[in-house]
Amino acid sequence: MADEASIDTSVTTGEGVRRRDFINIAAVSFAGVGGAAVILPLVSQMAPSADVLAESSTEIDISAITPGQAIKAVFRKQPVFIRNLTPAEISAAEKVDVSSLRDPQTLEERTKEGKTNWLITMGVCTHLGCVPLGAGEGEVKGEFGGYFCPCHGSSYDTAARIRKGPAPKNLEVPTYEFSSDTVVKIG
Ligand code: FES
Repeated sequence: MADEASIDTSVTTGEGVRRRDFINIAAVSFAGVGGAAVILPLVSQMAPSADVLAESSTEIDISAITPGQAIKAVFRKQPVFIRNLTPAEISAAEKVDVSSLRDPQTLEERTKEGKTNWLITMGVCTHLGCVPLGAGEGEVKGEFGGYFCPCHGSSYDTAARIRKGPAPKNLEVPTYEFSSDTVVKIG
């Protein structure tokens, strides 16, 4: 009887082991599926989405911007100012003693050769990131004739250089090139 009992126990144990094996295999399989399900969203989050890729550069037609006018465009979800400077605005920028500036740069350094009338900058104040006024029709340009940030009173000149107020730097000039005389590619 003891032998039978022992045989019975061993059979029971054998079935138990088989069941546990099955459960373990099933658990590993689910873990595998779960692992893949977790990894895939991470990979897809790391890859730039189609709309981000599309926005990595922006082409803008500037043919309708007459001297003295500016437009606001969007580049990588941030405002960009494209301004066609008048001869008076160019000469005002060129007359400034660069060594007196907080962020010393000439208009020539901030524009493309032969196209100093096209001032292209980010429309983001370098203080705390507000959008300065001056690019829209009728907006105040501040006492230096460029842009004025209403948040804390930073004034930029006609080369969009910081002249007064708390902003530490000139408005940033993004990477850009002229695709033609009338089209600018930013980015
Ligand atoms: S954010 Fe422009 S002056 Fe403060």
